[in-house]
Amino acid sequence: MVEYAKTLPGGDELPAVGIGTWDIHGGTVKQSVRCGLDAGYTHIDTAEGYDNEEEIGTVISSHNRENIWLTSKVLPKHLHYESVIESCRNSLERLGTEYLDLYLIHWPNPAISLRETLNAMTKLYNEGLVRNIGVSNFTAYQLSCAQHISDVPIAVNQIEYHPWFTQDPVVEYCHETNTVVEAAAPLGRTEVFADETIQNLADTYDRSPANIILRWAIENEIVVLPKSSTRDHIQENLEILDWELDPVDHDRIDSIEMSRPIYDFPSRAWEREVYGISQWSVAERYRSNLELTYPINRRRYLSRRNFDQGRPHCRRIRLILGLQCCFDDWGESILSARVK
Ligand SMILES: NC(=O)c1ccc[n+]([C@@H]2O[C@H](COP(=O)([O-])OP(=O)(O)OC[C@H]3O[C@@H](n4cnc5c(N)ncnc54)[C@H](OP(=O)(O)O)[C@@H]3O)[C@@H](O)[C@H]2O)c1
Repeated sequence: MVEYAKTLPGGDELPAVGIGTWDIHGGTVKQSVRCGLDAGYTHIDTAEGYDNEEEIGTVISSHNRENIWLTSKVLPKHLHYESVIESCRNSLERLGTEYLDLYLIHWPNPAISLRETLNAMTKLYNEGLVRNIGVSNFTAYQLSCAQHISDVPIAVNQIEYHPWFTQDPVVEYCHETNTVVEAAAPLGRTEVFADETIQNLADTYDRSPANIILRWAIENEIVVLPKSSTRDHIQENLEILDWELDPVDHDRIDSIEMSRPIYDFPSRAWEREVYGISQWSVAERYRSNLELTYPINRRRYLSRRNFDQGRPHCRRIRLILGLQCCFDDWGESILSARVK
């Protein structure tokens, strides 16, 4: 059965459908959020990077704050301790609110200590400025690092999720560790509407492709954040709670053979140079550190891919890494100190 809300570790109830607001500004975002709240949405997803918090603040000012779930995110360039605090305070001011229901690290930054960032998130939590903390665009490996370090539970991982990009290893790891998965770009920015399976099911159920995709996602225990600036679409995207997909049809979507991400962010590819540091070289350093202590016949397991896929034999390796390296930083300087 699909639960409308997900209970987070602190007991808060996160509504299963939220309004996405990326890339809409000014009157358009105001209209979308107003329309969404009128239609019955109670959950808004924004970020300091979306440059629309002030407009959202204006709209929610005429609503009872307690009835709205508000998520914002801190940009990866603002992940040093003081910057996290400042970013959050600025978001609160722009949104005209005293607290956020959820504050996320928008995507990982390997050049800044994750421990430092999470210490700042913990301070915000302890001061009541944010009620829950989480991450976004984190792999299973990165999430396990955050969980290992943080005193406050990592309640959510917001990741790209739609029938063409299900990121199963991350989702499985999140579900295993009671971390709620939120689907960013749940409609694949409409590209997924062209999928033959989705089109056939839309015909069978006499529903829109958007409805089929969103229903499938919430049946997979994923919170969805569709974005729309069209009144009818906003209304339609909420109409996914009182009907269900036949399990056979649900499985047909699960088994769509596709791995096509729709959006990109700087550190998605491990090999890519970001912030002046090759993430692959960081991984290699972990590896050489580990190889000092891990039996030689097991070294073939030490692949980045295996870590990300959460393979059982990697859990043990993760444990060793946890003990040896504390898994607390992706910062080059910290790593090199440890590798020495
Ligand atoms: N954490 C992250 O890094 C990250 C990354 C991406 C997204 N997100 C979050 O996830 C939200 C959603 O992702 P997204 O905005 O990238 O894309 P999306 O929700 O997958 O797709 C948005 C597109 O779908 C269309 N649409 C919406 N409902 C429709 C319907 N019922 N029928 C037909 N078309 C429909 C919209 O057009 P109309 O306006 O015409 O309806 C818009 O072009 C974002 O707004 C943001 O809040 C987070």
